[in-house]
Amino acid sequence: MSELRAAITGVQGYLPDYILTNAELEKMVDTNDEWIMSRTGIKERRILKGKGLGTSDMGAEAVTRLLTKKNISPSEIDLLICATVTPDHQFPATANIICDKAGLGEIPSFDVGAACSGFLYALTTGISFIESGRYQKVLVVGADKMSSIVDYTDRATCVLFGDGAAAVLLEGRTEYGIRDSILRSMGAGKQYLHQKAGGSVLPASKKTVEDRLHYIYQDGKNVFKFAVTKMADVAEEIMKKNQLTGDDVAWLVPHQANKRIIDATARRMGLPESQVMMNIHKYGNTTAATIPLCLWEWEKQLKKGDKIILAAFGGGFTWGAVYLEWAYED
Ligand code: UT7
Repeated sequence: MSELRAAITGVQGYLPDYILTNAELEKMVDTNDEWIMSRTGIKERRILKGKGLGTSDMGAEAVTRLLTKKNISPSEIDLLICATVTPDHQFPATANIICDKAGLGEIPSFDVGAACSGFLYALTTGISFIESGRYQKVLVVGADKMSSIVDYTDRATCVLFGDGAAAVLLEGRTEYGIRDSILRSMGAGKQYLHQKAGGSVLPASKKTVEDRLHYIYQDGKNVFKFAVTKMADVAEEIMKKNQLTGDDVAWLVPHQANKRIIDATARRMGLPESQVMMNIHKYGNTTAATIPLCLWEWEKQLKKGDKIILAAFGGGFTWGAVYLEWAYED
């Protein structure tokens, strides 16, 4: 009998309606469309507006739409994992709240925090539960309301990020599925990308708020240097490990942080732009949601057996790559 693999058997995204354009950002900070497009490839991003709405609302919407699309009852789901750096609260886990809002019942659920690589970390965790035979249907959600931690007076970061969520369903398959995963981390990268206050080292106070320490801090140039090499390195490593060349790979699904980082990774893999999923111009960097949002947008074009490489780099630093064979046709 063939080996049981975890396979993605459904995907669904959710994007808030409000579109924040480069033209609108030009009115908020000293920036311009030409700079943003040439340095990042971002034209617009989505923002979740509405009092009391958080990451879980986008995640729950993606989950509910996925279950409806797949005609699966919420009671069939065994486990939900949510990757996010913008949880609704420090605790409880946003995954718990998504389960409640999507009517999934009292199933196990937890968050995974690995910033922009969060979806790959959560996916790899989900794979283990399927392959061990412990669970049959696992939901992996990548969701971030980045607008809740973006400083809209800091032109170097506010142009980059957007809000969004997407969910994938994992089930066991014997023909096609997820074949390999490489994950890495380097805590020393914290100095270049972090949120200074609000955690146990520097709890929230009047002063931390006045000093604007609850927003994303990023030394973009240094993060760029690591991102551009590490993401390409790990994509190349997973290809070599699995004896793949550029000709074998149907699609690269990269984390959408900067078009220049994506182009460098594709070049190293020997892939033309036509085989790279890219929607950064529409949504910017939605952190844990970028990769599943791409899979959702390209779902109709994917064929059974397509060899796909997912690759990400982000805060931590964390980075990684997943190699899978697409398991269904829409
Ligand atoms: O997903 C998580 C991981 N994050 C990443 O992968 C992000 C990696 N970093 C990057 O993508 C890039 O570093 C950025 C897009 C953030 C910045 O691009 P850069 O080419 O590294 O620009 P820079 O930070 O070196 O800034 C160049 C210049 C500076 O002016 P001076 O010092 O040369 O006069 C900045 O002040 O551009 C200026 N600048 C801007 N100008 C107009 C910075 N932000 C802006 C802006 N509009 N929004």
